Amino acid sequence: MPARYDEPMNRDIQRVVITHRQIARRVDELARQILADHRPATAAQPAPITIIPILTGAMIFCADLIRRMPVVLRIELLTVSSYPGDSQKSQGAKLLAAHVGDLQGRHVLLVDDILDSGGTLRLVVPKLRELGAASVKTCVLLRKDRASARQTPVDYVGFDIPDEFVVGYGLDYNHLYRNLPRIVTLKSHVMGA
Ligand code: IMP
Ligand code: MG
Repeated sequence: MPARYDEPMNRDIQRVVITHRQIARRVDELARQILADHRPATAAQPAPITIIPILTGAMIFCADLIRRMPVVLRIELLTVSSYPGDSQKSQGAKLLAAHVGDLQGRHVLLVDDILDSGGTLRLVVPKLRELGAASVKTCVLLRKDRASARQTPVDYVGFDIPDEFVVGYGLDYNHLYRNLPRIVTLKSHVMGA
């Protein structure tokens, strides 16, 4: 029997932290909550939200989230890097690219994969306000159990997880493992330990 094609990647997994099914269920709930919060008090048509995933990590989460939001919306893109190369500690968030149109008066929902030191949100949220956004809300799939993450204001959180390095569902180690459909930790030898 040939080895399963996904065997080499699965071999690197130490522990599954969140399953694909748990993610799908929670993304559903988040989409519903975001839509409910965005509904205006009157019967007026709500202004379209502008969704901004922070690339590259939030790409998969955001793609699933917006497909559960059957409303008229815009998408703009920001690329931020804080873990260059194979580092497992944030080296400080840097804005690498911004593909954003006119945000004047727009209601923005910023989407990120994980809230760790909070550096990314502290960098990006004020920038979007400077660009004229009428409101900026934030949504992260994961939040690590550490003081700096808990102290960073965020509107929507998918899961609170232990303070350990995770990959999958968009999150990478050294640019790899983003395509795993679940959130996992990696074996220590894979991460050069
Ligand atoms: P913060 O700016 O320190 O809050 O970290 C946010 C960014 O760091 C995320 O968007 C991720 O790209 C990256 N990051 C933080 N923790 C992890 C992790 O456990 N695995 C992979 N990437 C992470
Ligand atoms: Mg990121």
